[in-house]
Amino acid sequence: MPVDGSWSVLIIDGEAGFVDDTKGLLPGHTVYTARNMSDAQRRMVEEGIDAAIAGPSFGRADNVREISALFDLRPNLPVILASDEMTTDLLRTAMRLGVKDVLETPLTQDKLRDSLTLLDQHHRDEGPTPEWKPRIGKVVTIMSPKGGAGKTVAASNVAVTLAEWAGPDQVVVMDADLQFGDICITLQVDPKHTLVDVARDIDKLDEELLSSLLARHSSGLRVLAAPLEPALAEEVSTAVIVRTIGMLRRMFEYIVIDTAPFLDEPVLSILERSDTVLLVVDMDLPSVKNAKLALDTLRLIKFPFEKIRLVLNRNNSKARLDVSELERSLGLRVEASVVSDKLVPRAVNEGVPVVQLNPRSRVARDLRNVARLVYDGAATAGEGQGGSHRRFGR
Ligand SMILES: Nc1ncnc2c1ncn2[C@@H]1O[C@H](COP(=O)(O)OP(=O)(O)O)[C@@H](O)[C@H]1O
Ligand SMILES: [Mg+2]
Repeated sequence: MPVDGSWSVLIIDGEAGFVDDTKGLLPGHTVYTARNMSDAQRRMVEEGIDAAIAGPSFGRADNVREISALFDLRPNLPVILASDEMTTDLLRTAMRLGVKDVLETPLTQDKLRDSLTLLDQHHRDEGPTPEWKPRIGKVVTIMSPKGGAGKTVAASNVAVTLAEWAGPDQVVVMDADLQFGDICITLQVDPKHTLVDVARDIDKLDEELLSSLLARHSSGLRVLAAPLEPALAEEVSTAVIVRTIGMLRRMFEYIVIDTAPFLDEPVLSILERSDTVLLVVDMDLPSVKNAKLALDTLRLIKFPFEKIRLVLNRNNSKARLDVSELERSLGLRVEASVVSDKLVPRAVNEGVPVVQLNPRSRVARDLRNVARLVYDGAATAGEGQGGSHRRFGR
């Protein structure tokens, strides 16, 4: 906590205007900024943050709960909420979440100074901050705007591989294909609970409860299942997904998310909160066309393209698409390719990911190379970092 009156303040809002204006009201303080709660969590781990200001996009009844992502990471972080509307409902919810002060917009230098002084006083009264150990898992989202491109194959194989490398209970796969999720059949796990239970318990959700709603795969991978039938999908709101991701990041090193083949609101919110996006493109023309359209949309919303890793699936199939032409048209380099192999559907039908069923096959090696794109640990023994063209026997 600041002794010299200078704070490290994190300003969080999707509106650049609010962030810039607020920055201007904090002369003499160190200011960090974040576009959303996931960015904010990352900042909190990277920088010594003394306090946070959540902007008006969180000062609405439907979004205010997102602030709990900050407390998931650090329960006693001093948080100020700026809001365009001061309803009693909002105030009550904010205070219940742990927000220390709510200020009506427009903010002024005086309002902020008073508020920070108040927080400082609170802090002195409460005594020293207890130690906290930040852990902030990496969110890896598998996306493709076309069904059948190989998302679920990639998600299940990457997740199991990461679980083998990172150890048991370090990796979770979340099936966010809310209507037709098939991670559980692909991995042959029989979920006792699904995202629907998470949604129903959202108000009392904590790490322990969430953990009890996860299934376990034999590899040590944990699984958050999709709703069991399409009609239940609507019970799982985007807010639920967002809050769940925030909490899972506290609990796991890697959060692998399988998605539906759309760019709808839930998927866009997931992408916003991802550290890495694996864009799976199948070797056929519609797949490439859709990928291009999706990338155009992401460009429009200023999505950071450096997070996107292009993965080519079935790259030896008969489609005869020219890879360099594809790269040119998408404006991205292919960072990993996966061969087409009938071992894949066979493995899917057996409910065992091909990296486990036929670990020495070429396709398993390709899929491990996809996992390597996101794995932060040391390279695993036995295989080079790509480049090797040796063929392993099956
Ligand atoms: N590299 C591959 N080789 C052979 N078959 C594949 C490959 N990747 C995916 N498939 C098959 O294509 C089908 C669709 O894959 P899936 O991962 O379920 O697609 P998505 O999740 O994108 O809809 C599955 O039956 C799977 O077995
Ligand atoms: Mg799928």
